[in-house]
Amino acid sequence: MSAKDYMNKKSTAERIAALMEEMTIEEKIGQLHQMGPSIVGGFNLSLEDMVGMMLDGRISKEEFDEMMANSHEDFYEDEIRAGRIGAYLGTFGAEKLNAAQKVAVEESRLGIPLLFGYDTIHGHRTIFPIPLGEACTWNPQLWQESARIAATEASATGVQWVFAPMVDIARDARWGRVSESAGEDTFLTSTYAKAKVKGFQGDSLKNKDSVLACPKHFVAYGGCEAGRDYNTVDISMQTLHEVYLPPFEAAVSAGAEVIMPAFNDVSGVPCTANSYLLRDVLREQFGFEGFTVSDANAVVELINHGVAADRKDAARVALSAGICMDMGTKCYQDYIAELIQEGSLTMQELDEAVERILQVKFDKGLFDEPFITDAQREKTDLLRPEFRAKAREIAAKSIVLLKNENQLLPLRKDAKIAVVGALADSRPDMIGAWAMSGRNEDCVTAIAGIRAAAPQVTYAPCCGTDGDFNREETDTAIAEAEIIVAVVGELADHSGEASSRADITLPGKQQAFVDYLLASGKPVVCVLMNGRPLAIPSIAEKVPAILDIWQLGIEGGNALADVLFGAVNPSGKLTTSFPAFTGQCPHYYNEPTTGRPGGSFKFTSRYLDAPLKSVFPFGHGLSYTTFAYSDLAAVVEKGQVKVSVTVTNTGSREGTETVQVYFRDVVASRIRPKKSLKGFRQITLAPGERRCVTITVPVAELGYYDNRMEYIVEPGTFRVMAGTSSEEYLETEICL
Ligand code: GLC
Repeated sequence: MSAKDYMNKKSTAERIAALMEEMTIEEKIGQLHQMGPSIVGGFNLSLEDMVGMMLDGRISKEEFDEMMANSHEDFYEDEIRAGRIGAYLGTFGAEKLNAAQKVAVEESRLGIPLLFGYDTIHGHRTIFPIPLGEACTWNPQLWQESARIAATEASATGVQWVFAPMVDIARDARWGRVSESAGEDTFLTSTYAKAKVKGFQGDSLKNKDSVLACPKHFVAYGGCEAGRDYNTVDISMQTLHEVYLPPFEAAVSAGAEVIMPAFNDVSGVPCTANSYLLRDVLREQFGFEGFTVSDANAVVELINHGVAADRKDAARVALSAGICMDMGTKCYQDYIAELIQEGSLTMQELDEAVERILQVKFDKGLFDEPFITDAQREKTDLLRPEFRAKAREIAAKSIVLLKNENQLLPLRKDAKIAVVGALADSRPDMIGAWAMSGRNEDCVTAIAGIRAAAPQVTYAPCCGTDGDFNREETDTAIAEAEIIVAVVGELADHSGEASSRADITLPGKQQAFVDYLLASGKPVVCVLMNGRPLAIPSIAEKVPAILDIWQLGIEGGNALADVLFGAVNPSGKLTTSFPAFTGQCPHYYNEPTTGRPGGSFKFTSRYLDAPLKSVFPFGHGLSYTTFAYSDLAAVVEKGQVKVSVTVTNTGSREGTETVQVYFRDVVASRIRPKKSLKGFRQITLAPGERRCVTITVPVAELGYYDNRMEYIVEPGTFRVMAGTSSEEYLETEICL
């Protein structure tokens, strides 16, 4: 009898059962352990130790980076041979991953293959726009295509599992991770979640160019109090189930087999210790059959949360709550055997986690084909010309034309254009946060793209995101110009993880810089490079033309030029609302009604010093053509609401419009949002062309959780809105 006889069984279920029979408790625990291979050369510190040293201040971030930079990738082969490691994160490369896999498959007793996970968030080598930018395409087909390309590239480098899509709902622009999200709306993010899971996982998980998706961060991470990353989240059960959970249910229904719980608590129970979320909701209600992986270091952080006394207790709490795999700490490896031995954990709790992980490894086909068989792919499947072309297309469609007074845009190519702003020449800030496997040298900057498209372009940095701007340099730069293109905004490091801002205005003196440019009397175009909605009321008011390009990835400069000069007619629409002031955060379109809806009368829900409306609302985005809406009708039949509206291209060039449909439950037993997105459709119309668009919404989607947490769809009047944004629409009513 060989320990590997389990592979002779016919079905996967029989193989898993036989394997479980064969496994020692140490081998079982090994499957629950995921680590990063970058171990500091010489110090022999684990990633957990190093992160812990940084978090408690024993080393600075700079020292941490220095240590990581001096680390070598040690896969701890003896640990693999002993069956004590089940997965890795934070590394890729066909040759070295195959080498580690060879040790696992050929030199360990049971030959269980390793699982390699990586943060392929918005592309792997072909870097696409940050998710908040790509979401503005409102195009599920493109969301899926970019994930498919990312999967092709990541899998070519040995990555079998990506820690994406991030499907947190982000209503507070102070939170840095809004940049990684699809924005503030549940319906749009749920649609995004499905598209991304399908894109990453392809037609079959067993395909060599497919990777496991890993929707994260489960759940309500974006609800962190004060927009401060990792902070507490205190929300009602209704808000949890109506706003934050649906994108994960959508992802599970699309076939996601790994879920990453969030660092935060939900109403006092950390997600990493939350059996209600991990068992009742995820496993029972959503029918999730895959495995959960903690976020990095999150198991040991249960001590900081104050729900575990020490690392051993943290291991007990996390595993019993439903965390299958421990990312980045050794709590499971160090204590689960002891906890079972003393009766604090049961073998059944361990077995459930192990079986789920083995099931996913079988589903991925790793037992049949654990290696990257075609190492050539790493040379042929990355950064292919067609991938770059797709990146350019998606980047251009991610751009949102926020304002275009007197049709200042598109620019003439023969105009004398002065491009100013340090961000215009920055590759890392165009690529964006979480582009870990991307390469700055692949990136086309804003100025490079503009220069490639037009002959009379000058460039001077003039103003960065800190310190004052250079007046002399600015005067020289704009002296001969007919038009000024000011690229302003945020660094990539101003958003992303651990990058919340208490002030979401333009960093540094950029606002003063723009005012100085406006004072020249020359027409100014503002190009925003940002990872979040910004509080820019003055720019919104005074600058005649504003493009929001987010952080567009490697083809950002070319995409910007395509839109700036009109080769592409912008079609992006915001998926987050822009407040006038930071003090309005959290600020989102589908806020609940109140007893005193804000208005001009003093004693209503309003600010003394800020407008109620968004400076730029959810769903907003202009075009170089114009669209008119007419003939809105809504009928209820066979459990559906059929909403139809006619859209006409009333301008002089072809354009793409995203028709949005919103509902409002006018009278209900719980207060309801002023409006909620329930459907959208993208259409392209030639000049003068008109089309009737019909969007069907199941009546069942118009319900909500009552105060006993029963999901109900109440009869009564619903307002139906269809239009070009959450602020501009036609309205009618239906009665259920
Ligand atoms: C990080 C992030 C998570 C990421 C993981 C692995 O802390 O919260 O989004 O996937 O660790 O890098």
